[in-house]
Order: sequence, then C-alpha cells, then structure tokens
Amino acid sequence: MNVGVLGGGTMGLGIAQVSAQNGHKTILVDINKEVLDKSKTKLEKIMARLVEKGKILQDESIAIQSNIVYSTNIQDFKDCGIVIEAIIEDFSIKSEVFSKLESIVSKDCILASNTSSLSIASIGSSLKISNRIIGIHFFNPVPLMALVEIIPSIQTSDLILKNVKSLIDGWGKVAVVCKDTPGFIVNRVARPFYGEAIRIYEEGIADFATIDWAMTELGGFRMGPFTLMDYIGNDVNYTVTETVFSAFYFDPRYKPSFTQKRYKEAGFFGRKSGKGFFDYNDETLNVPPNKNRELGEQIFERILVMLINEAIDALFLNIASKEAIDLAMTKGVNYPKGLLMWADELGLDNVLSKLESMFNEYGEDRYRPSPLLKRMVKSGTKFFR
Ligand SMILES: NC(=O)c1ccc[n+]([C@@H]2O[C@H](COP(=O)([O-])OP(=O)(O)OC[C@H]3O[C@@H](n4cnc5c(N)ncnc54)[C@H](O)[C@@H]3O)[C@@H](O)[C@H]2O)c1
Repeated sequence: MNVGVLGGGTMGLGIAQVSAQNGHKTILVDINKEVLDKSKTKLEKIMARLVEKGKILQDESIAIQSNIVYSTNIQDFKDCGIVIEAIIEDFSIKSEVFSKLESIVSKDCILASNTSSLSIASIGSSLKISNRIIGIHFFNPVPLMALVEIIPSIQTSDLILKNVKSLIDGWGKVAVVCKDTPGFIVNRVARPFYGEAIRIYEEGIADFATIDWAMTELGGFRMGPFTLMDYIGNDVNYTVTETVFSAFYFDPRYKPSFTQKRYKEAGFFGRKSGKGFFDYNDETLNVPPNKNRELGEQIFERILVMLINEAIDALFLNIASKEAIDLAMTKGVNYPKGLLMWADELGLDNVLSKLESMFNEYGEDRYRPSPLLKRMVKSGTKFFR
C-alpha cells in the first residue's frame, strides 16, 4: 500500500521515515519546497548515523530513502491507500485540505490526522465519505517513540479502525485506542505533571529545582516538570494547557497558571530562548535544589496523586481501557510506571485520603476525587490483580 504524508515538517518527516522503513512507497507532500529539501537532508543524516551505529545496513538505508517521494503536488496522493495529515494545527486550513484530499484520492483511501488538539469529528465533517476519517497521533520523535494514539471519531467505521490498528501494529508501534476527547490520553492525563508542580511553586512550598529534584530523584521520572516545560517551550506548553482548559469547558482541574503565562509573555520560553524556569546561557545562575527528603516526598506524593486521579477519571469516562491508559503514559511520555498500576501499589485508600485532604483544605474543585476511585475504595477492588 502506498502511504501519503501531508506536511513535511517535524512530524511528517518522522511518519514518512517509519512508513518507508516498513517498506511502503511513501509520498511526502509539503507546500514549501525548502522544507522538503531540509527534510530530505535531515533524513540522509539520520540514515547515515543508523548505518554508522550498525543499526541498519547501507543497502537498507538506500532502500528506505528511495521509498520516499518528495513532492509539492498534492495530486501525487492519488494512488495512496492512506494519507496521514501532519500540517499546521489550524482547523480551517486542515478542513480545506481534507476536502481537497478527498477530491484526489480513491473512495477507499483512509484519511487520517495527526492533530494534537482538534477533534477528529470536526475534521471529518469536511468529508463527503466521513466514515474514513481517523486520528493517528504520533509522538515526537516519531521513529523513537513507541506510542501511537488511534482515535476513531463518531463517524469512523469499525473496518477503518481495524485496518489502521493493524497497520500501526505492523509498524512495530504500541497502538492505543482512545475516545475523541481533548488531549486524547497522554495530553489529558499528564496535565497535573505541569499544573500541580506550578501550583506548588506558586504557594511558595518549593522552588523549581527542588520540585524537579523531588520528581526525578524520589519519583523516578526522567525529567522534572520545569525542565520538561523548558524543553517543550513555555509558549507551546502554555498554549496546550489553555486549549485543553477551554476544550473542557473550563473545568478548574485544567486551569492554566499565571506563572507560566508570564514566562511565555516575557519570552522566557526555555531551552530554545536560552532562559525559561532555568537559565541555559549561564547555568551557574541556577540555584541548587533543597534536598530535604521529607519536603521532596510531600511534593512527589502531591503531584503523583493528582496524576493518578486524572488517569482514574479518564478510565471512569471510558476514554480508553485501563491497559491503554497505563501504556500511554509509560510509552508516550516515559513515566516510570503506569499510573493505575502505581495506584494499586500505593493503595487506593491512600490515594483517596490524600486527595480528600487537599479537597477539604483548599475547597477547590480541581482536587475532587474521581467517582471511580471512591467506588473502588468502597468495594475494596484494584485495577490489576
Ligand atoms: N511537534 C510535535 O511534538 C507534535 C506531536 C504530535 C502531533 N503534532 C501535530 O502534528 C502536526 C504537525 O506538527 P509539526 O510539529 O510537524 O509542525 P511543523 O511546523 O514542523 O510542520 C508542518 C508542515 O506543514 C506544512 N504545511 C502547512 N500547510 C500546508 C498545506 N496546506 N499543505 C501542505 N503542507 C502544509 C508546513 O510547510 C510545515 O512544513 C500538527 O497538527 C501538530 O499539532 C505535533
């Protein structure tokens, strides 16, 4: 099957690489010829490095690269069995592009979007045959990140879902199916990793370095929340938080913070601008963490129970299966453990009592425990045996 990828930027190139590595003739289309030239050179370098490291043979590298056709002409998708769109995150542009795509491809061609924040149902509404729309959400960098969220919308046929799932499984990815709701699994469940960390800082409980130390050293996370926000970029991360917040009809659980807003407004984006929560131009300016274990445990526990509550609520609302939710967080954002498994280990009664004590203390809806957690504590059940 020929695979079409629309958008030759960061995500599009990664998707095209994976598709080509799996033997598909892959058509990579971008409106900008310069982007395509840059992407081609980037792939050449990636392939050369893989050959150098002995991960692939020279012949394979040549075969993979010759599987990709770079083009600025969307008509080149006409023989594709699937087209995966990875262009700019703008609803009206995506809508227009999908209508155009439909006039080019065959009626059996699957049309997929890699959108992070738009609803698949809304993108599908621009199609005449709308049961072929589906979300295929890859993670960056695509060739390295195992997780792919597959999002059928209410229009998507069961057959399309089945075919896409088997295609992505065949590419050696970990595919999880989830509902067409804001943030899908990962970008929803991970919100407290940032939000609660910032809240702890805002209350003056600890500084950035101490919170990061608690989450990495005591919690086993690969990166602390502030280092991660600086890495993602405070502009990007703040915008995602704002989008998720409004998409959830302003549920206080997803409320953005003034702290990050100010960092964004000041241009303190993080690594890419040289300064964010930490200074990257002059690292001697960064204050070392306060390695008080008791304080660290409090910080880690507070963020962890908020993450667990979010994961439980996603299960409560049938966003995905319990296995999918745990896989999504371990394979999509490298959490040291699945959150539901972690909840079992901690004891659901302990998680509930911590949340209830915060809910009582603050009187804020963001700390409300998920009804499923309460039910499970009452019945003495666990997520996994
Ligand atoms: N970057 C990430 O970490 C990430 C992760 C998951 C999903 N996504 C989603 O993937 C999509 C692409 O993101 P990205 O980071 O690769 O962006 P990017 O800016 O690197 O690439 C987008 C490309 O689309 C091209 N483009 C714009 N309009 C076009 C059109 N009408 N026809 C053809 N090409 C067009 C641009 O020239 C650009 O090269 C977005 O929907 C984003 O939300 C991004």
